[in-house]
Amino acid sequence: MDREQQVSATPPDLKGRATSTAAGIPGVKHVIAVASGKGGVGKSTTSCNLALGFAALGLKTGILDADIYGPSQQKLFGLRGKPRQLGPRMLEPLERFGVKVMSIGFLVEEDSAMIWRGPMVISAITQMLREVAWDDLDILVVDLPPGTGDAQLTMAQQAPLAGAVIVSTPQDIALIDARRGIAMFQKVSIPILGLIENMSSFCCPTCNHVTPIFGHGGARSEAERRGIPYLGEIPLDIQIRQTSDEGRPIVAVAPDGVHAKHYVKIAHEIWTAIVTGAAHRPPPRIVIE
Ligand SMILES: Nc1ncnc2c1ncn2[C@@H]1O[C@H](COP(=O)(O)OP(=O)(O)OP(=O)(O)O)[C@@H](O)[C@H]1O
Ligand SMILES: [Mg+2]
Repeated sequence: MDREQQVSATPPDLKGRATSTAAGIPGVKHVIAVASGKGGVGKSTTSCNLALGFAALGLKTGILDADIYGPSQQKLFGLRGKPRQLGPRMLEPLERFGVKVMSIGFLVEEDSAMIWRGPMVISAITQMLREVAWDDLDILVVDLPPGTGDAQLTMAQQAPLAGAVIVSTPQDIALIDARRGIAMFQKVSIPILGLIENMSSFCCPTCNHVTPIFGHGGARSEAERRGIPYLGEIPLDIQIRQTSDEGRPIVAVAPDGVHAKHYVKIAHEIWTAIVTGAAHRPPPRIVIE
């Protein structure tokens, strides 16, 4: 089946431009962004493991690290080395655990500071989207930096986003920022694929006592309040942190473990929402005259 046929097999509202005004990325069927308002809530860890979850579902998967000032995916995937140049403009993404990965972290030294103004960030993200030989992907996961700045707007306007996944920890201070993230995507008419509660409850590995360090259930209530899908929770667990630091993400190294099951289940829900067009869109405004 050629690409044209594959694209037309998807529901009409998922044909590239229908979900965003941006032109499609050659070779990529669906692009999703993983965002939060607040920093440090686990977007990169979640994006990495969700990408591996999509791959575990048999989907051809890539991940683009759009965090120019603080790239993480090269570390999370345990990748070193520089992408190969293909022709005058294109770069070949690196690949590990069956996922194609592109990050500015491959191109700059780990301890060098990225002192770039907004337009350079926009240009770097655009190049990583369009001048990388993604080559036949079912899904490209974009790991966004925190906040609602240049990187988020570039993605919203220049990538044909099928939707955004919002990651939040359960406590109010993170949810306030998550709301800003949701509002930003809704303002630019990007569907919200759902909210994930990360670092939801901590289960002590020695006594099995469960402690909701950041609270529990905040993201679910928030999703219910906003009428957006709640995708599930990922516990706060030392194995997730350790495997991330080692560059051996949990879904890759323990695919049958309980954590991998959470990520794969969420990946499955997201994929279903994408192919059925069930992502949440802001309700149309009703004008009463
Ligand atoms: N579910 C989890 N259990 C344990 N540790 C976690 C979990 N999720 C993330 N972490 C850890 O929390 C820290 C921050 O995670 P991560 O870098 O993914 O957050 P981020 O939202 O991408 O941060 P930034 O806003 O700086 O980009 C990391 O050390 C990571 O290993
Ligand atoms: Mg990050």
